[in-house]
Amino acid sequence: MKMHIDIISVLPRLLDSPFSHSILKRAIDKELVEVNVIDLRDYAENKNRQVDDYAFGGGAGMVMTIEPIAKCIEALKEKRTYDEIIYMSPDGEVINQGMANFYSTQKNLLILCGHYKGVDERVREHFITKEISIGDYVLSGGELAAAVFCDSIIRLIPGVLSDETSALTDSFQDDLLSPPVYSRPADYKGMKVPDVLLSGHTKEIEKWRLNKSLERTKERRPDLYKKGDS
Ligand code: ADE
Repeated sequence: MKMHIDIISVLPRLLDSPFSHSILKRAIDKELVEVNVIDLRDYAENKNRQVDDYAFGGGAGMVMTIEPIAKCIEALKEKRTYDEIIYMSPDGEVINQGMANFYSTQKNLLILCGHYKGVDERVREHFITKEISIGDYVLSGGELAAAVFCDSIIRLIPGVLSDETSALTDSFQDDLLSPPVYSRPADYKGMKVPDVLLSGHTKEIEKWRLNKSLERTKERRPDLYKKGDS
């Protein structure tokens, strides 16, 4: 089953790079996902292709108007049924690994990227089914947030990562941070790799990694550590 993601943006070129490299590019090339970026201005019916206007009631900042967004979403909905119509916004639910796992199993997603002071509230009320944030800070627009969200879900689609187990051993999959990793040389100017990792004892290595994960989570993310405990 190929996943399909449509992204509505006023700056579509901003999304070129994230989808043209590395894992996301490979997923697209392997036809495991299809990502289509739509220029919202194509749905503006004025000659300046304007998609924003002043806020009723006054105040600084422009608002993305309902008309082009409604037209764009309606046109897209004629072609497919979306599992979710997502608005990237700092007001949304903050994405975590559990949510990434869930969205990686969906078939059709539509993502709207906001700009300026945000979108007319009626868009959120009548068209959006889910609002997602990538963290408690404000970005200039939703595009980078959409790229982060898409990366977190696309890499989980079976077949995207060459070694499927590598996504399962990611930090957060079991509410634990990853253990430290090392590569050659075993001794760099006196900075040594822990002996156990060179020992070849698989059981001992697993035990060491689990201990390090627990230690690191307890120290750096006590909130996650507690969650794992319960
Ligand atoms: N748009 C602006 N800030 C954002 C954030 N933190 N998450 C998602 N979309 C955003």
